[in-house]
Amino acid sequence: MSRVALVTGGSRGIGAAIAVALKNAGYTVAATYAGNDEAASKFTEETGIKTYKWNVASYEDSKAGIAKVEADLGPVDVVVANAGITRDAPFHKMTPEQWHEVIDTNLTGVFNTVHPVWPGMRDRKFGRVVVISSINGQKGQFAQVNYAATKAGDLGIIKSLAQEGARAGITANAICPGYIATDMVMAVPEKVRESIIAQIPAGRLGEPEEIARAVVFLVSDDAGFINGSTITANGAQYLV
Ligand code: CAA
Repeated sequence: MSRVALVTGGSRGIGAAIAVALKNAGYTVAATYAGNDEAASKFTEETGIKTYKWNVASYEDSKAGIAKVEADLGPVDVVVANAGITRDAPFHKMTPEQWHEVIDTNLTGVFNTVHPVWPGMRDRKFGRVVVISSINGQKGQFAQVNYAATKAGDLGIIKSLAQEGARAGITANAICPGYIATDMVMAVPEKVRESIIAQIPAGRLGEPEEIARAVVFLVSDDAGFINGSTITANGAQYLV
Protein backbone atom coordinates (compact mmCIF):
# COMPACT_ATOMS: atom_id res chain seq x y z
CA MET A 1 0.00 0.00 0.00
CA SER A 2 1.27 3.46 -0.81
CA ARG A 3 2.27 5.85 1.97
CA VAL A 4 -0.06 8.71 2.80
CA ALA A 5 1.31 12.24 2.56
CA LEU A 6 -0.35 15.39 3.91
CA VAL A 7 0.65 18.76 2.44
CA THR A 8 -0.71 21.90 4.06
CA GLY A 9 -1.30 24.83 1.75
CA GLY A 10 -1.16 22.19 -0.95
CA SER A 11 -3.53 23.53 -3.58
CA ARG A 12 -1.42 26.46 -4.81
CA GLY A 13 2.18 27.56 -5.24
CA ILE A 14 5.01 25.50 -3.75
CA GLY A 15 2.55 23.28 -1.87
CA ALA A 16 0.72 22.30 -5.05
CA ALA A 17 3.99 21.39 -6.75
CA ILE A 18 4.93 19.28 -3.71
CA ALA A 19 1.55 17.50 -3.69
CA VAL A 20 1.85 16.68 -7.40
CA ALA A 21 5.45 15.51 -7.10
CA LEU A 22 4.55 13.23 -4.19
CA LYS A 23 1.61 11.82 -6.10
CA ASN A 24 3.87 11.15 -9.10
CA ALA A 25 6.31 9.42 -6.74
CA GLY A 26 3.57 7.00 -5.67
CA TYR A 27 2.19 8.56 -2.47
CA THR A 28 -1.49 8.93 -1.69
CA VAL A 29 -1.73 12.67 -1.15
CA ALA A 30 -4.06 14.96 0.79
CA ALA A 31 -3.66 18.69 0.23
CA THR A 32 -5.12 21.27 2.58
CA TYR A 33 -6.15 24.82 1.85
CA ALA A 34 -7.52 27.65 3.94
CA GLY A 35 -9.94 29.65 1.85
CA ASN A 36 -9.66 29.60 -1.92
CA ASP A 37 -12.36 27.03 -2.83
CA GLU A 38 -12.11 27.78 -6.52
CA ALA A 39 -8.36 27.12 -6.71
CA ALA A 40 -8.78 23.96 -4.64
CA SER A 41 -11.50 22.41 -6.79
CA LYS A 42 -9.57 23.31 -9.94
CA PHE A 43 -6.50 21.67 -8.42
CA THR A 44 -8.43 18.48 -7.58
CA GLU A 45 -9.97 18.41 -11.05
CA GLU A 46 -6.59 18.73 -12.73
CA THR A 47 -4.57 16.41 -10.50
CA GLY A 48 -7.02 14.01 -8.86
CA ILE A 49 -5.52 14.98 -5.48
CA LYS A 50 -8.06 15.28 -2.67
CA THR A 51 -8.23 18.66 -0.97
CA TYR A 52 -9.39 19.41 2.58
CA LYS A 53 -10.28 22.82 3.95
CA TRP A 54 -9.16 23.88 7.39
CA ASN A 55 -7.32 26.66 9.13
CA VAL A 56 -3.89 25.45 10.26
CA ALA A 57 -3.88 28.20 12.90
CA SER A 58 -6.54 26.25 14.83
CA TYR A 59 -5.42 23.14 16.72
CA GLU A 60 -8.95 21.76 16.95
CA ASP A 61 -9.60 22.25 13.22
CA SER A 62 -6.27 20.67 12.34
CA LYS A 63 -6.90 17.69 14.59
CA ALA A 64 -10.39 17.15 13.18
CA GLY A 65 -9.18 17.65 9.60
CA ILE A 66 -6.33 15.17 10.01
CA ALA A 67 -8.72 12.63 11.56
CA LYS A 68 -10.87 12.95 8.43
CA VAL A 69 -7.85 12.53 6.13
CA GLU A 70 -6.79 9.42 8.06
CA ALA A 71 -10.33 7.98 7.93
CA ASP A 72 -10.40 8.55 4.15
CA LEU A 73 -6.87 7.59 3.17
CA GLY A 74 -5.15 5.86 6.08
CA PRO A 75 -2.52 6.91 8.63
CA VAL A 76 -0.35 9.86 7.65
CA ASP A 77 3.29 8.79 7.17
CA VAL A 78 4.57 11.97 5.57
CA VAL A 79 3.68 15.49 6.59
CA VAL A 80 4.79 18.60 4.74
CA ALA A 81 4.06 21.75 6.74
CA ASN A 82 4.00 24.27 3.94
CA ALA A 83 1.06 26.59 4.63
CA GLY A 84 2.16 30.14 5.19
CA ILE A 85 1.15 33.76 4.80
CA THR A 86 2.83 37.16 4.71
CA ARG A 87 1.66 40.38 6.30
CA ASP A 88 4.64 42.55 5.40
CA ALA A 89 5.16 45.96 6.99
CA PRO A 90 8.15 47.88 8.29
CA PHE A 91 8.38 47.17 12.03
CA HIS A 92 7.31 50.67 13.07
CA LYS A 93 4.08 50.14 11.11
CA MET A 94 3.51 46.46 11.92
CA THR A 95 0.35 45.96 13.97
CA PRO A 96 -0.10 43.35 16.70
CA GLU A 97 -2.72 41.77 14.39
CA GLN A 98 -0.15 41.39 11.61
CA TRP A 99 2.28 39.86 14.08
CA HIS A 100 -0.22 37.37 15.51
CA GLU A 101 -1.76 36.35 12.19
CA VAL A 102 1.62 35.33 10.82
CA ILE A 103 2.80 33.65 14.03
CA ASP A 104 -0.48 31.73 14.38
CA THR A 105 -0.52 30.50 10.78
CA ASN A 106 3.14 29.95 9.99
CA LEU A 107 4.58 28.83 13.33
CA THR A 108 1.75 27.53 15.49
CA GLY A 109 0.42 26.05 12.26
CA VAL A 110 3.45 23.75 12.15
CA PHE A 111 2.76 22.55 15.69
CA ASN A 112 -0.91 22.05 14.85
CA THR A 113 -0.07 20.04 11.74
CA VAL A 114 2.65 17.79 13.10
CA HIS A 115 1.41 17.20 16.66
CA PRO A 116 -1.71 15.16 15.72
CA VAL A 117 0.26 12.80 13.42
CA TRP A 118 3.31 12.41 15.66
CA PRO A 119 1.98 9.68 18.02
CA GLY A 120 0.99 7.47 15.05
CA MET A 121 4.42 7.91 13.47
CA ARG A 122 6.04 6.93 16.77
CA ASP A 123 3.82 3.85 17.06
CA ARG A 124 4.47 2.72 13.50
CA LYS A 125 8.21 3.49 13.77
CA PHE A 126 8.21 5.52 10.59
CA GLY A 127 7.59 9.14 9.76
CA ARG A 128 8.78 11.99 7.60
CA VAL A 129 8.29 15.62 8.54
CA VAL A 130 9.32 18.39 6.17
CA VAL A 131 8.79 22.03 7.09
CA ILE A 132 8.95 24.66 4.38
CA SER A 133 10.90 27.52 5.94
CA SER A 134 12.40 30.39 3.93
CA ILE A 135 15.58 32.22 3.00
CA ASN A 136 14.12 35.05 5.08
CA GLY A 137 14.27 32.91 8.21
CA GLN A 138 17.99 32.59 7.59
CA LYS A 139 18.88 36.15 6.65
CA GLY A 140 15.98 38.26 7.95
CA GLN A 141 14.08 40.61 5.65
CA PHE A 142 13.06 44.25 5.67
CA ALA A 143 9.31 44.44 6.50
CA GLN A 144 9.16 40.81 7.66
CA VAL A 145 9.91 40.75 11.39
CA ASN A 146 6.84 38.53 11.83
CA TYR A 147 7.48 36.20 8.87
CA ALA A 148 11.23 35.89 9.47
CA ALA A 149 10.58 35.01 13.12
CA THR A 150 8.33 32.13 12.09
CA LYS A 151 10.71 30.85 9.44
CA ALA A 152 13.67 30.94 11.82
CA GLY A 153 11.42 29.21 14.36
CA ASP A 154 10.83 26.38 11.88
CA LEU A 155 14.52 25.53 12.06
CA GLY A 156 14.36 25.18 15.84
CA ILE A 157 11.31 22.96 15.47
CA ILE A 158 12.89 20.50 13.04
CA LYS A 159 16.17 20.30 14.95
CA SER A 160 14.27 19.42 18.13
CA LEU A 161 11.87 17.01 16.43
CA ALA A 162 14.82 15.29 14.76
CA GLN A 163 16.33 14.46 18.13
CA GLU A 164 13.01 13.23 19.50
CA GLY A 165 12.02 11.20 16.45
CA ALA A 166 15.32 9.61 15.43
CA ARG A 167 14.96 6.44 17.49
CA ALA A 168 11.39 5.98 16.25
CA GLY A 169 12.35 6.10 12.57
CA ILE A 170 11.06 9.64 12.12
CA THR A 171 13.05 12.34 10.37
CA ALA A 172 12.31 16.07 10.46
CA ASN A 173 13.97 18.40 7.99
CA ALA A 174 13.45 21.85 6.55
CA ILE A 175 13.81 23.42 3.17
CA CYS A 176 14.57 27.12 2.92
CA PRO A 177 13.38 28.22 -0.50
CA GLY A 178 14.61 31.50 -1.82
CA TYR A 179 12.34 33.63 -3.98
CA ILE A 180 10.12 31.27 -5.97
CA ALA A 181 7.68 32.23 -8.73
CA THR A 182 4.45 31.97 -6.72
CA ASP A 183 1.51 34.26 -5.92
CA MET A 184 3.26 35.24 -2.66
CA VAL A 185 6.32 36.61 -4.43
CA MET A 186 4.23 38.08 -7.26
CA ALA A 187 2.38 40.11 -4.60
CA VAL A 188 5.59 41.99 -3.81
CA PRO A 189 5.61 45.38 -5.58
CA GLU A 190 7.14 44.96 -9.05
CA LYS A 191 10.04 47.35 -8.45
CA VAL A 192 10.97 45.57 -5.24
CA ARG A 193 10.71 42.20 -6.98
CA GLU A 194 13.02 43.35 -9.76
CA SER A 195 15.59 44.47 -7.20
CA ILE A 196 15.30 41.09 -5.46
CA ILE A 197 15.89 39.19 -8.72
CA ALA A 198 18.97 41.35 -9.30
CA GLN A 199 20.36 39.95 -6.02
CA ILE A 200 19.97 36.31 -7.11
CA PRO A 201 23.16 34.99 -8.74
CA ALA A 202 21.05 32.52 -10.74
CA GLY A 203 19.42 35.57 -12.32
CA ARG A 204 15.88 34.26 -11.95
CA LEU A 205 13.19 33.22 -9.50
CA GLY A 206 13.05 29.56 -8.54
CA GLU A 207 10.32 27.24 -9.77
CA PRO A 208 7.99 25.48 -7.29
CA GLU A 209 9.00 22.12 -8.80
CA GLU A 210 12.61 22.78 -7.77
CA ILE A 211 11.46 22.72 -4.15
CA ALA A 212 9.11 19.78 -4.69
CA ARG A 213 11.89 17.53 -5.95
CA ALA A 214 13.88 18.17 -2.77
CA VAL A 215 10.85 17.20 -0.68
CA VAL A 216 10.44 13.93 -2.58
CA PHE A 217 14.04 13.09 -1.76
CA LEU A 218 13.79 14.04 1.93
CA VAL A 219 10.72 11.85 2.52
CA SER A 220 12.17 8.82 0.72
CA ASP A 221 13.67 5.78 2.45
CA ASP A 222 17.00 6.81 0.94
CA ALA A 223 17.07 9.93 3.13
CA GLY A 224 16.60 8.07 6.42
CA PHE A 225 19.88 9.31 7.92
CA ILE A 226 19.24 12.94 6.97
CA ASN A 227 17.59 14.32 10.06
CA GLY A 228 17.44 17.84 11.47
CA SER A 229 18.91 19.28 8.29
CA THR A 230 18.10 22.34 6.26
CA ILE A 231 18.30 22.36 2.49
CA THR A 232 18.91 25.81 1.11
CA ALA A 233 17.42 26.31 -2.37
CA ASN A 234 17.83 29.93 -3.35
CA GLY A 235 19.91 30.23 -6.53
CA ALA A 236 22.93 31.20 -4.38
CA GLN A 237 21.24 34.37 -3.08
CA TYR A 238 22.24 33.69 0.53
CA LEU A 239 24.71 31.02 1.60
CA VAL A 240 24.82 29.62 5.11
N1 CAA B 1 15.86 47.49 2.50
C1 CAA B 1 15.99 48.74 2.93
N2 CAA B 1 15.02 49.67 2.80
C2 CAA B 1 13.91 49.30 2.18
C3 CAA B 1 13.70 48.02 1.69
C4 CAA B 1 14.75 47.10 1.86
N3 CAA B 1 14.64 45.84 1.41
N4 CAA B 1 12.48 47.96 1.14
C5 CAA B 1 11.93 49.17 1.28
N5 CAA B 1 12.81 50.00 1.89
C6 CAA B 1 12.62 51.41 2.21
C7 CAA B 1 12.11 52.18 1.01
O1 CAA B 1 13.17 52.60 0.20
C8 CAA B 1 11.39 53.34 1.69
O2 CAA B 1 12.36 54.25 2.14
P1 CAA B 1 12.09 55.84 2.12
O3 CAA B 1 10.94 56.03 3.06
O4 CAA B 1 13.38 56.43 2.60
O5 CAA B 1 11.76 56.15 0.69
C9 CAA B 1 10.81 52.65 2.88
O6 CAA B 1 11.58 51.49 3.17
C10 CAA B 1 9.41 52.14 2.56
O7 CAA B 1 8.68 52.64 3.51
P2 CAA B 1 7.13 52.78 3.30
O8 CAA B 1 6.62 53.46 4.49
O9 CAA B 1 6.81 53.33 1.96
O10 CAA B 1 6.75 51.24 3.32
P3 CAA B 1 5.32 50.64 3.19
O11 CAA B 1 4.63 50.76 4.51
O12 CAA B 1 4.64 51.15 1.98
O13 CAA B 1 5.71 49.13 3.00
C11 CAA B 1 6.71 47.27 1.92
C12 CAA B 1 6.23 48.70 1.78
C13 CAA B 1 5.71 46.42 2.65
C14 CAA B 1 8.02 47.26 2.67
C15 CAA B 1 6.90 46.79 0.46
O14 CAA B 1 7.98 47.50 -0.11
C16 CAA B 1 7.18 45.32 0.34
O15 CAA B 1 6.26 44.51 0.30
N6 CAA B 1 8.44 44.94 0.26
C17 CAA B 1 8.81 43.55 0.04
C18 CAA B 1 9.17 42.84 1.30
C19 CAA B 1 9.60 41.46 0.91
O16 CAA B 1 10.63 41.26 0.28
N7 CAA B 1 8.80 40.46 1.27
C20 CAA B 1 9.06 39.14 0.86
C21 CAA B 1 7.80 38.54 0.33
S1 CAA B 1 8.06 37.00 -0.51
C22 CAA B 1 8.22 35.88 0.70
O17 CAA B 1 8.12 36.16 1.85
C23 CAA B 1 8.50 34.48 0.27
C24 CAA B 1 9.78 34.02 0.80
O18 CAA B 1 9.81 33.26 1.75
C25 CAA B 1 11.04 34.42 0.14
